[in-house]
Amino acid sequence: MSDAASAKETAAEPLQAGSDSFEVPRHVAIIMDGNGRWAAARGLPRVEGHRRGVEALRRTVRAAGDLGISYLTIFSFSSENWSRPASEIRDLLGLLRRFVRNDLADLHKSNVRVRIIGERADLDRDIRLLLDEAEELTRNNDGLTLIVAFNYGARQEIARAARRLAIEVAAGRLAADAITPDLLARHLDAPDLPDPDVIVRTSGEQRLSNFLLWQAAYSELVFVPINWPDFDRAALEAAIAEYRRRERRFGGLVAQTGS
Ligand code: FPP
Repeated sequence: MSDAASAKETAAEPLQAGSDSFEVPRHVAIIMDGNGRWAAARGLPRVEGHRRGVEALRRTVRAAGDLGISYLTIFSFSSENWSRPASEIRDLLGLLRRFVRNDLADLHKSNVRVRIIGERADLDRDIRLLLDEAEELTRNNDGLTLIVAFNYGARQEIARAARRLAIEVAAGRLAADAITPDLLARHLDAPDLPDPDVIVRTSGEQRLSNFLLWQAAYSELVFVPINWPDFDRAALEAAIAEYRRRERRFGGLVAQTGS
């Protein structure tokens, strides 16, 4: 049997915590899409879809921790979401406030470290303080790292990195020709985190929508047909199983199965 075939056989094994063959991606990123459609299909207001989306988020954070995933990034509010009706923006900001107020103590108890990426300067002061508090309280935890992308857009993040480098060049501390992809990556919002191994998007849409464009260079993309409020541990495991069937070559010739 070829290496690739034997690797695929291994990758097809069911996920089972505690078994030797249990391998999960180190970093999973999720575009939590389809809250509105979930609600519309049930004749409910959109906010109900977002509320149930928060429940799906709780389930997913727990499952990710149980499965031994090290980093989970979630796209919870995009730079472009400001174009939604004011009432929906209020609902989403309210859910974030409630999520931090109600869930932070549990996340801390579960040894979760919270990180935030995105533009914080434009947010209301109370939200900025809540996000700072979440990071500060959990900074020494060494379990799952939960990265919340809030007021986040990847092009904006790359522009921020370019601006930070431009300031260094203008001050004479950096030569323009010393700027490499590696150096730019070190000026992104969370430069110490590994790139996502897999980006999962729910709802059947198949695009990145300005999420982690730099970091996604070699991420596997998994699109699942269910709406975010229906996402659960089984759906996460199925997405990981799909990821493990992929061969990653990072531009080279040697296949590496997802792990
Ligand atoms: C996409 O569904 C989802 C969002 C824009 C926001 C995601 C937010 C949550 C899961 C809840 C909030 C969580 C926190 C931590 C604040 P959509 O509204 O675009 O759905 P649609 O495409 O079906 O209309």
